[in-house]
Amino acid sequence: MQAITMSHVNKTYGSDTSAVHVLKDVNFSATYGQLIDVVGPSGSGKSTFLSIAGGLLAPTSGSIDIGGASLQDLRPRRREQLRLTTIGFVLQSYNLVPFLTVRGQFALVDKVRGTRHMARERFDEVLQTLGIAQLLDAYPSTLSGGQRQRAAIARALYADPAIVLADEPTASLDTDHAFQVMATFRRLAHETNKAIIVVTHDTRLERYADGLYDITDGAIRVIEPHERVA
Ligand SMILES: Nc1ncnc2c1ncn2[C@@H]1O[C@H](COP(=O)(O)OP(=O)(O)O)[C@@H](O)[C@H]1O
Ligand SMILES: [Mg+2]
Repeated sequence: MQAITMSHVNKTYGSDTSAVHVLKDVNFSATYGQLIDVVGPSGSGKSTFLSIAGGLLAPTSGSIDIGGASLQDLRPRRREQLRLTTIGFVLQSYNLVPFLTVRGQFALVDKVRGTRHMARERFDEVLQTLGIAQLLDAYPSTLSGGQRQRAAIARALYADPAIVLADEPTASLDTDHAFQVMATFRRLAHETNKAIIVVTHDTRLERYADGLYDITDGAIRVIEPHERVA
């Protein structure tokens, strides 16, 4: 089943002489149970693509379906609710709450979202794999950039969303931790039937992806298995 479908999506920032055409006729779909990697250089439109895929940003033209619902047909409140209950974002600014411990960040998710969250044992496993199980009582200001990034990833997963959208989730991580993040994503996609989409310029990660796309200058295309380098 399709988790996200984007059809003929265009995005232009600005207007008239300052207009920048950032996404060009993007057609894309992500299936539940798969980890999808969208790779492209800086400035190619990855963050724009991810924000539009998750309904954070409206396209200039084209349509987006999430879990079978057409975003443009929903009222803003309903759209927001769909986003909240269905999608976990891992954004580049980690958005951790400074006065809450790592554990407190997760508890906040329960408050905002209600009681549904990932099964305890599975989440404990995620914390172990991401290497933050021993950081639960720490405040964000005492964590390294990499630890913060991993805490933000854990927070997005804690809510157990059916769709995870991650923007450069390994930017602050060394290779071992980057691979552990991708292995966690892959395992959750396969074992709990999530659609997980990672946009990145980090080509180290390609080997983990079930589906691979390239985005260059706002144009997206599939990278076929025989074209893969890794
Ligand atoms: N809010 C905005 N207003 C104007 N231009 C923007 C805005 N956001 C991004 N851009 C431009 O759109 C292009 C793609 O940006 P972005 O989606 O952030 O790419 P990436 O994530 O691949 O680096 C860049 O040229 C960037 O400068
Ligand atoms: Mg970006």
